[in-house]
Amino acid sequence: MGGALVMKLVLIYSLVLNSMSIFYCSSMQLNHPRLEGNEMDRLALLAIKAQIQHDPNRVTSSWNETLHFCLWHGVTCSRRHRRSTILTGEIPPSLGNLSSLERFDATQNNFEGSIPSSLCQLKKLTVFYFGINRLSSIIPSCIYNLSSIVEFKVSQNQFQGSLPSNLSNAFPNLQFFSVAENQFIGAIPWSISNATNLVWFQCSSNKLTGQVPNLQNLHNLMIFSVYDNNLGSGKHGDLSFVLELINAKQLTLLDFGRNNFGGTLPKSISNLSTNLQLFMVDENQLHGSIPTGLGNFVNLQVLAMERNSFTGNIPTNIGKVSGLGELFLNNNQLSRSIPSSLGNLTLLTLLVLDENNLEGSIIPSGLWNYRYLLGLDLSRNNLNGTIPTQVFGLSSVSRYLRLDRNYFTGSLPMEIGNLKNLGILDISNNLLSGQLPSSLGSCESLEELYLQGNFFLGPIPSSMKELRGIRDLDLSRNNLSGDIPQFLENLNLEYLNLSFNQFWGAVPTSGVFKNASATTVAGNAKLCGGMASLRPPNETDDLFSLRVHSFGTGYVLSLLLLGKKRKETNLSTLGNSVLQVSYATLLKATEGFSSANLIGVGAFGSVYKGILADDRVVVAVKVLNMLHRGVAKSFMAKYEAFRNIRHRNLVKILTTCSNIDFGGNDFKALVY
Ligand SMILES: *[C@@H]1O[C@H](CO)[C@@H](O)[C@H](O)[C@H]1NC(C)=O
Ligand SMILES: *[C@@H]1O[C@H](CO)[C@@H](O)[C@H](O)[C@H]1NC(C)=O
Ligand SMILES: *[C@@H]1O[C@H](CO)[C@@H](O)[C@H](O)[C@H]1NC(C)=O
Ligand SMILES: *[C@@H]1O[C@H](CO)[C@@H](O)[C@H](O)[C@H]1NC(C)=O
Ligand SMILES: *[C@@H]1O[C@H](CO)[C@@H](O)[C@H](O)[C@H]1NC(C)=O
Ligand SMILES: *[C@@H]1O[C@H](CO)[C@@H](O)[C@H](O)[C@H]1NC(C)=O
Ligand SMILES: *[C@@H]1O[C@H](CO)[C@@H](O)[C@H](O)[C@H]1NC(C)=O
Ligand SMILES: *[C@@H]1O[C@H](CO)[C@@H](O)[C@H](O)[C@H]1NC(C)=O
Ligand SMILES: *[C@@H]1O[C@H](CO)[C@@H](O)[C@H](O)[C@H]1NC(C)=O
Ligand SMILES: *[C@@H]1O[C@H](CO)[C@@H](O)[C@H](O)[C@H]1NC(C)=O
Ligand SMILES: *[C@@H]1O[C@H](CO)[C@@H](O)[C@H](O)[C@H]1NC(C)=O
Ligand SMILES: *[C@@H]1O[C@H](CO)[C@@H](O)[C@H](O)[C@H]1NC(C)=O
Repeated sequence: MGGALVMKLVLIYSLVLNSMSIFYCSSMQLNHPRLEGNEMDRLALLAIKAQIQHDPNRVTSSWNETLHFCLWHGVTCSRRHRRSTILTGEIPPSLGNLSSLERFDATQNNFEGSIPSSLCQLKKLTVFYFGINRLSSIIPSCIYNLSSIVEFKVSQNQFQGSLPSNLSNAFPNLQFFSVAENQFIGAIPWSISNATNLVWFQCSSNKLTGQVPNLQNLHNLMIFSVYDNNLGSGKHGDLSFVLELINAKQLTLLDFGRNNFGGTLPKSISNLSTNLQLFMVDENQLHGSIPTGLGNFVNLQVLAMERNSFTGNIPTNIGKVSGLGELFLNNNQLSRSIPSSLGNLTLLTLLVLDENNLEGSIIPSGLWNYRYLLGLDLSRNNLNGTIPTQVFGLSSVSRYLRLDRNYFTGSLPMEIGNLKNLGILDISNNLLSGQLPSSLGSCESLEELYLQGNFFLGPIPSSMKELRGIRDLDLSRNNLSGDIPQFLENLNLEYLNLSFNQFWGAVPTSGVFKNASATTVAGNAKLCGGMASLRPPNETDDLFSLRVHSFGTGYVLSLLLLGKKRKETNLSTLGNSVLQVSYATLLKATEGFSSANLIGVGAFGSVYKGILADDRVVVAVKVLNMLHRGVAKSFMAKYEAFRNIRHRNLVKILTTCSNIDFGGNDFKALVY
């Protein structure tokens, strides 16, 4: 979620920027606030020329009124706006000669190197913008002596070092301060407690440590983001600054996500400004319950509390935040059921509740009137019951629909075909059953489809050939049967897992089937052919581990000794030790489990005759369907019971065998 969140934040910040009409341009601006665009650039450049008295390379000699400034030597204009996008390379120290300069905006250029200390001569500077460049090293400390500075933004560079602890004494007029996405270390300057004019404080994505200074005097604060640092101690008390923000009546964005803050969110948090639009505390060490008072933030658009240790239920009150667009509560320990009041959040675009202990069934009423939803993630909870048909009516969902690792039952309804814009569908590892609906083929935008670990049966619907964008398809660990459809060869699959089903017939050989690391067909006993590389290697790992899989469609092989043993002495000297019988050996012994060797069909499977080549021992091989959970149990019981018993007609158990067959099935064998 981290990466996506960063993207989201950047977008939101720039939107906020626009609405506050702080405007980025890629030139130096003089103090002509009403002049915009080209004219301002031209004047700026001419002013620079006027200030430059030493120009040995005569760079500025072509800078005259007759030639368009985009054609001046050393000036390049971007094609779209014909605005100058000056000067890449180092910042010329001579710019420090522009002693009357008040606004210096070098945002979004390709400047590299360091900020020259000659800029400390610009005593009239109010705006110092060097954001989005490739500047590095330490900001000269004399810059912090420019006491006129109101707006200081150096975000998205590679600046190092620490911030001066007396920052706000140095910048007594400071309103905007952004050092985001650099490599600053040390503490947030304590003196910002005194920066009473501060509107915007942003130091996200640095390496800052320690505690957040007292914020109670910052009545004008609108934006406070310390996201992605190493602030806090992981203990109670870290969040005292949050309550100090109660005085900031215009607070719009509060983001202290991805830090090391501990403790609980105080109940009185509900007294923070109701202007709050973004509240993000994700990826910390917060615990306790989610304060019901969050329901007061009627203007909230993003609530991100994921990756903490919050417990208790999701407060019903969250349903009051009717404008909420994104709700992230994933990776906590929230329990009880999903409140149906979430259905009131009709503007939600992302609802992410995965990896909690949420339980009960999804109540269909209300919840599914989401017309703008792009992504829904309820995976890794304890949800049960059937998936309401309405979920599959969420036709706006385009990014992901994840319901995997729950206890959902029932079948997949035809309505799944409504998800025409959906990219990722994951309903794996539930208790779903029935046939795959043919409408699956209508989910034409699907790129990833995960249905593994359910009880689906029947064939792969032929309509799935319409899934032309699909890259990952996992149908493993179901009870699907029939031929592997040829059309799978023609899809642009990068990952195909058909293992542990009941597919039969020939394995296709082209397309994704050519690539052994992209395709798995193991655990389908009746498949034949295919590229040799698709068969698992015949190593005998876990040979005697006797792990019993209580779920899954693996097979148990019972190996019964029938005839006279040639190597009786050898066998008896084995004592209680075990004899290794690989699947390959058994395959050879039974001539590939050929029907000619089929002795009979029992309650739980079929018995084949075979000859162990090395020992010339005639054996019977019983193939038991592991779907019957009792089989595995009785296999174990038999093994335990017979292990040390000697009987005239039953040779002592000589060997147990656990192996992987060419279909990848686990099999286990007993030799009496
Ligand atoms: C302006 O500069 C260009 C290029 O150096 C030159 O050709 C032109 O004569 C100059 N015009 C004046 C008025 O100086
Ligand atoms: C302009 O700046 C450069 C470099 O900082 C310096 O060497 C030069 O003396 C300055 N010129 C004036 C007139 O101040
Ligand atoms: C800042 O200015 C004060 C006085 O104006 C001066 O004493 C001090 O040396 C300056 N600090 C830096 C780092 O330039
Ligand atoms: C801030 O501290 C630095 C270093 O301690 C000092 O040089 C500077 O003069 C101080 N500025 C103010 C305004 O106190
Ligand atoms: C805030 O300003 C007052 C008065 O100038 C000063 O005494 C105090 O030390 C400052 N606090 C911080 C944290 O810099
Ligand atoms: C919120 O503020 C009001 C007064 O503005 C106060 O009475 C109330 O106790 C505060 N609530 C909390 C939970 O601190
Ligand atoms: C949800 O909406 C319904 C109907 O508009 C309303 O009765 C209910 O109080 C709302 N619930 C919450 C928690 O806001
Ligand atoms: C669903 O889970 C709830 C809570 O864990 C439980 O009370 C209920 O019996 C379950 N329902 C079904 C159908 O399993
Ligand atoms: C295919 O699915 C099986 C069972 O779900 C799993 O064990 C195996 O790792 C998967 N294969 C690959 C290549 O991921
Ligand atoms: C799996 O499919 C086979 C037939 O293909 C059927 O006999 C068996 O009952 C199915 N098992 C489950 C658990 O659905
Ligand atoms: C085979 O599949 C793997 C895993 O998807 C992929 O990394 C590799 O590039 C594929 N090889 C070929 C030859 O397509
Ligand atoms: C499988 O085992 C046999 C006998 O140990 C060996 O000859 C053969 O090369 C092995 N095959 C593979 C694919 O490793």
